Amino acid sequence: MRFDLVLFGGTGDLSWRKLMPALFQAFKHGTLPDGARIIGVGRDELSDERYRALILSRFDEVDLAKRPSPEEFERFSSLLEFVSMDLSKPAHYAYLRDKLAQRQADTVVMYLATAPALFTTIVEQLAAAGLNTPQTRVVLEKPLGHDLASNRAINHSVGQVFSENQVFRIDHYLGKPSVQNLFALRFGNALFEPLWRREHIANIQITIAEELGVEKRGAFYETTGALRDMVQNHALQLLCAIGMEPPINSHADAIRDEKLKVLRSLKPWTPEVLAQDVIRGQYGAGALGGVAVPGYREELGVNPTSRTETFVALRTEISNWRWAGVPFYIRTGKRLAGRDARIVVNFRPTPHAIFNSQIGLANRLVINLQPRDGLELHLLAQGQDNRKNSHTLSPVQLDLDFDKRFGQERVGAYERLLLDVIDDRLNLFVRSDEQEEAWRWVEPILTHWQADAQGPRPYAAGTWGPSATSAMIARDGFCWSEEC
Ligand code: BG6
Repeated sequence: MRFDLVLFGGTGDLSWRKLMPALFQAFKHGTLPDGARIIGVGRDELSDERYRALILSRFDEVDLAKRPSPEEFERFSSLLEFVSMDLSKPAHYAYLRDKLAQRQADTVVMYLATAPALFTTIVEQLAAAGLNTPQTRVVLEKPLGHDLASNRAINHSVGQVFSENQVFRIDHYLGKPSVQNLFALRFGNALFEPLWRREHIANIQITIAEELGVEKRGAFYETTGALRDMVQNHALQLLCAIGMEPPINSHADAIRDEKLKVLRSLKPWTPEVLAQDVIRGQYGAGALGGVAVPGYREELGVNPTSRTETFVALRTEISNWRWAGVPFYIRTGKRLAGRDARIVVNFRPTPHAIFNSQIGLANRLVINLQPRDGLELHLLAQGQDNRKNSHTLSPVQLDLDFDKRFGQERVGAYERLLLDVIDDRLNLFVRSDEQEEAWRWVEPILTHWQADAQGPRPYAAGTWGPSATSAMIARDGFCWSEEC
């Protein structure tokens, strides 16, 4: 199959940090179909050779394990070409059209890895140049808009030019092997399904913690913040994967219909609930692994009086028969105590205790997303020391390490998603209605914050966020998994 991948934003951060390494991995694994051509698009005047040299130099900044050897890069780089474009100029799209026409590829992927403000212009210009053929697929990176209105405006313009099944909205969390495993756990095994409901589950905690700060993205982050950057998309997609009903089959729309129902069932916000159940924080100076790090307001590109949140914790519920009354806690932030993404499902306690130590929520399923990918099942067992006949139980756990089990066979999120686009598989991409629903749900939070004089609560880098986060969960009589 001959395909052309046109990478708008071809010299940008995302291209060299994530997309080129992912394409190289696919190339190395032999999964990138033969007949591939990758055309980077950018404003600079670069020859193909200069573009290849630029990409090669950037590989020095990616994980050692993902860097090509000189021979490997030599072969991979023969796929790379460059087109210089001013994205507002119709003549430049005409040039691109002619270049693509020379090859008549079976599939053309237009990957929009630019600022979202350019999405509308690009798709309109693509259509004006006749580049929205049925063989074309368009990939849209997040953030897709800034709020519900801007998201709808982008989706509307894209919808004028491409049909929904040509549009691949990326949420790279859906491409992570650990998230695939979450679907496998729930829908490939019958074991947990009878327990997966309000009668047996006390609460669910979704944590996406990062050690990194905003790095060089201060200016972008200032206008984004953790709610838009992580909650509206990644965290809500995880919540959907945990909360959705089993889809009738594995087709994209069957899965997306079920996720949409979850988003529509999220408990609506009221002013009281917003004040109590949503916490925003901003990191101050602190230390990580013994190394002092600056506060958010001292980062490059950040306003010294910034009110942008680098941390969000919230409590919500899915208002349906399966989940009514079960709290779902979401927590995400930068410069937290560790890089740790996990979902913890806390089961209800036994109805009647006959052992001395049988207290609290002892049964817990931990779905580790990163840095480890695996499952832990926490149980209570009778220990060895029965001398005192104390009927005391000890915590034990079953531990499954998927990295160890599947190690080499695993592919990274972007590699997986890029191959899905090329193979026309939409299962792991977000439909416009899903995305709009997620924006509709976060928007009252944004509005509430705008009117709230208090601003984000400070937390020291290297901690688990503002202390109010523990107080929020304690109100329900629970605690975060690392606290109890
Ligand atoms: C991106 C956010 O979508 O996800 C970043 O824009 C964040 O701010 C990143 O760091 C986290 O992804 P991962 O795969 O490293 O957990």
